[in-house]
Amino acid sequence: MENFEYFILARAVHVLSVVMWIGGVSFVTTVLLPALKKVPDEHKRIELFEQLEGKFAFQARLITLAAGISGFYMLYVLNAWHRYLDVQFWWLHLMTFIWLIFSLMLFVFEPLFLHRWYREQAAKDSAATFAWIHRMHIILLLLSLLATFGAVAGAHGYHF
Ligand code: HEM
Repeated sequence: MENFEYFILARAVHVLSVVMWIGGVSFVTTVLLPALKKVPDEHKRIELFEQLEGKFAFQARLITLAAGISGFYMLYVLNAWHRYLDVQFWWLHLMTFIWLIFSLMLFVFEPLFLHRWYREQAAKDSAATFAWIHRMHIILLLLSLLATFGAVAGAHGYHF
């Protein structure tokens, strides 16, 4: 297979990862967290959140890996690293930034301390902790949607 064919496949893998990514973040932000906020029993709420989030964590790690590998592979084939020096490609900066945040959360912070920290905070003030987690998800969702919009337009010839 030629390099450009691998490139096309990498793009397909990238978009597939993004579809699952945005779908997952969107569901957690607009359905799961608002529904959990309504669970009156605080212990039950934490327990439910950990169970459901735990189920998604493995998937999220795979998606993050696939998005990162396919994304960097495309940059390598295009030899487009210089785009990081050009503000016109703000969507590439944004994509990479979002990916970095997710990678740090899933592969470094979560296993190291986030889990414990979250339990401690939730035990102190469950409502405030949930509100904070929800706010962070809303911001990440909006940034992910903006990156997707910019990337599709930018990758297909729109000059920002
Ligand atoms: C390390 C992280 C990432 C890198 C290095 C990366 C790199 C790339 C590259 C090189 C392209 C192709 C640009 C072109 O054809 O000119 C691309 C396309 C795209 N990326 Fe990323 N990306 C990353 C993460 C993400 C994330 C997290 C999202 C979504 C939130 C995303 C969404 C997209 C979309 C929607 C496209 C356009 C696909 C198309 O319409 O052909 N990327 N990315």
